[in-house]
Amino acid sequence: MKNFKNKVALITGAGSGIGRALAIQLADSGCNLALVDWNEKTLKETEQMIRKKNVAVSLHFFDLREKEKIESLPEEIIEIHKQIDIVINNAGLSIIGKVDEVNEDDWQFGVDILLNAVIQMSTVFLPYLQKRPEAAIVNVSSIFGLFSVPKQSIYNVGKFGVKAFTESLSLEMEMSESPVEVYCVFPGHIGTNIYSSSRFKSFEADDAGAAIFGANASTIEEAGAQFKQNAPSSPEFAAKTILKNIKNKNKRILIGFDAKFYDLMSRLFPKNFLKIIWILPFFRGIFKPKK
Ligand SMILES: NC(=O)c1ccc[n+]([C@@H]2O[C@H](COP(=O)([O-])OP(=O)(O)OC[C@H]3O[C@@H](n4cnc5c(N)ncnc54)[C@H](O)[C@@H]3O)[C@@H](O)[C@H]2O)c1
Repeated sequence: MKNFKNKVALITGAGSGIGRALAIQLADSGCNLALVDWNEKTLKETEQMIRKKNVAVSLHFFDLREKEKIESLPEEIIEIHKQIDIVINNAGLSIIGKVDEVNEDDWQFGVDILLNAVIQMSTVFLPYLQKRPEAAIVNVSSIFGLFSVPKQSIYNVGKFGVKAFTESLSLEMEMSESPVEVYCVFPGHIGTNIYSSSRFKSFEADDAGAAIFGANASTIEEAGAQFKQNAPSSPEFAAKTILKNIKNKNKRILIGFDAKFYDLMSRLFPKNFLKIIWILPFFRGIFKPKK
């Protein structure tokens, strides 16, 4: 996609973190926006931040588990904006707990938000995107969609699923010479609210997640604050990387040096990779913040 000016982009999870940064940067490029989040307060804050940027913005508050709502969303967007060019499936959260700690409800909750909503959103918007001269679907997976860690089985399944679905759709679009470009995003550790907004079944300071981001906290709140503070990449850097790669038509988007490092290591040492992760905090100096 050459540029974003006068296009219409829908972003899920635009009330915080990467989604909010994408909304601001797309607005700066002259792109009109349809913003989705289940948190009315934070989504309105995002709207305030882009109010003076001279683009059309619509807000859509709902839980992405609401299938009927997603079903009717394309018509709602067309009614307001007359067109849709870009769909960014970014919303997400994590469920932290061992396999014997999580229950059926946790699985349903996590997989519905992380995976089923991404599949349904991509599917319902596809016919509308196909009608545009150029269009894009951007699905946000994770480095945890490339390798698995303990206590994140639901998140791992969701993010591996997003990768599988997105790559398959991307190939289908390429083979049919569709105008729809399909991108899969693999962020490394980005300084957002995602850790504090996780559903915790148990919490230990030395969880796999904590080991990766180098936290040493005694409460979830403390760990959440450290997660944000210690991140090698900011949400603004993540958004900039995503938009740059869309312009360059690079369909596999790794965000941050840490993501590139983990990706390479998990390929080189598939068996011993986790041990490398455990000792990673010792090497934190090489992950310089990119703002
Ligand atoms: N931050 C990281 O280190 C990191 C790493 C890898 C992948 N990711 C992925 O990046 C994406 C963005 O996360 P972030 O880090 O900006 O987190 P964040 O918590 O700052 O933002 C996520 C947003 O999604 C919204 N959301 C969550 N569930 C929703 C639902 N059911 N319906 C509607 N809105 C919902 C939240 O309200 C929030 O505004 C997620 O898919 C996440 O899994 C993040």
